[in-house]
Amino acid sequence: MRCEKLSYPILYKKEESGVRRKNEEESEIRNQESGIELPTIDYQLSTVNCQLSTVNNQLSTINCQLPPTYEQPAQSTIVNLSLQHQPIASQIAETIAKIIDRGDFILGRSLAEFETAFAAACGVKYGVGVACGTDAIALGLQACGINPGDEILIPANTFVATIIGVLQAKAIPILVDCNPDTALIDLTAATAAITSKTKAIIPVHLYGQMVSPRELLEFAECRNLIIFEDAAQAHLAASEGYRAGSLGKAAAFSFYPSKNLGSFGDGGMLITDDRNLAEKVRTLRNYGAKSKYLHSEIGSNSRLDNLQAAVLNVKLPYLETWNRDRARAAHHYNTLLAPLKSLGIVPIENRSGSGHIYHLYVIRITEESSIDRNTLQQQLAREGIQTGIHYPVPCHLQPAYQNLGNPGDFPHAETLCRQILSLPMYPGLSNTQIELVVRTIERSLNC
Ligand SMILES: Cc1ncc(COP(=O)(O)O)c(C=O)c1O
Repeated sequence: MRCEKLSYPILYKKEESGVRRKNEEESEIRNQESGIELPTIDYQLSTVNCQLSTVNNQLSTINCQLPPTYEQPAQSTIVNLSLQHQPIASQIAETIAKIIDRGDFILGRSLAEFETAFAAACGVKYGVGVACGTDAIALGLQACGINPGDEILIPANTFVATIIGVLQAKAIPILVDCNPDTALIDLTAATAAITSKTKAIIPVHLYGQMVSPRELLEFAECRNLIIFEDAAQAHLAASEGYRAGSLGKAAAFSFYPSKNLGSFGDGGMLITDDRNLAEKVRTLRNYGAKSKYLHSEIGSNSRLDNLQAAVLNVKLPYLETWNRDRARAAHHYNTLLAPLKSLGIVPIENRSGSGHIYHLYVIRITEESSIDRNTLQQQLAREGIQTGIHYPVPCHLQPAYQNLGNPGDFPHAETLCRQILSLPMYPGLSNTQIELVVRTIERSLNC
């Protein structure tokens, strides 16, 4: 498969002409005003050469380990990052080399460029790069005016990072059950969980599918609740004319390496249309300093590294193509798995059509199946097919979070944790590999 470079003008609600230019100008000003001096390190030529050749060596080692084409490796891993990195390895090497050359490591040019580009791709005005998605939630909630003791509704079947973000903002996570078909937060259950202390809802766009924007807006607006999107798994997902991240007051993204847009380490971003909110997160991520050594907030050190931003800048133009290829793979799975529905193999429902970006392709192994999930997972593993479970234990049954609920409180989330299985899913996953996975499932069911 060839990677096409794409432009990403998106015709969603929040796009305004001129936003990108305005953001770029602001990013430049911000860099000048960030208070962090970024001297170009005057390396001796031999030192620079030495570093550049190390980068090149490392990347050519990566190249050597890559399969020559997208054709299937002997074993099916749940994710294969090499396939997406191979065609752009030299672009990335050049970018990294330039940054080493400039010594531009913290709050640098690539970060400003990536913040502008990613926010624009999501149809939002401002992006603030932070150390990880968890920090994007924690700092973002603080900047939204969430106060200690405020209650925030979140789905019981999310990754624990959503809870950690809420707790770091000193708010109280209130778990809510999910819809058993989509695995997304159930807004009827959310309504029942509202108290006088409820200030916000965090819809988690799980597996790459957005919670219905229309239903969310209706839910939040009439109750005066803040919508803060956890879009860690939903880069450029869309639904009902909205892009993930453009719906609420602010949104958090993760660039963990295996995400649809992943860095070469940890990374995250807070995006918002609210200039003051963005500025507050910029301050909080940088020791609470608006300008150098003047600390107006008790902040932290949570900046997205310039090197990571540079890698993400190279990858961003390919994201739509990669997402489309995931959707192609999901469509093939759906077609082949359809006859197995009556045998208890049921894909998580897609209610957002082509807007689902399939961070994960998840099936349920229901009571109708002749085998249980764990047995199926073991049989697939024996055939060299790696799978995952996202997630095996609901948040309220985790040892650290037992105060958030009792067994039986969130029955759909608990059932899903026992039934779900994530099949191999990544751009470049071949139809032949998908057929092999489905045939192995069929054999395991004895059909
Ligand atoms: C739903 C969800 N929220 C938040 C996070 C946290 O992101 P990070 O790992 O970058 O801190 C993740 C990461 O996996 C996630 O999947």
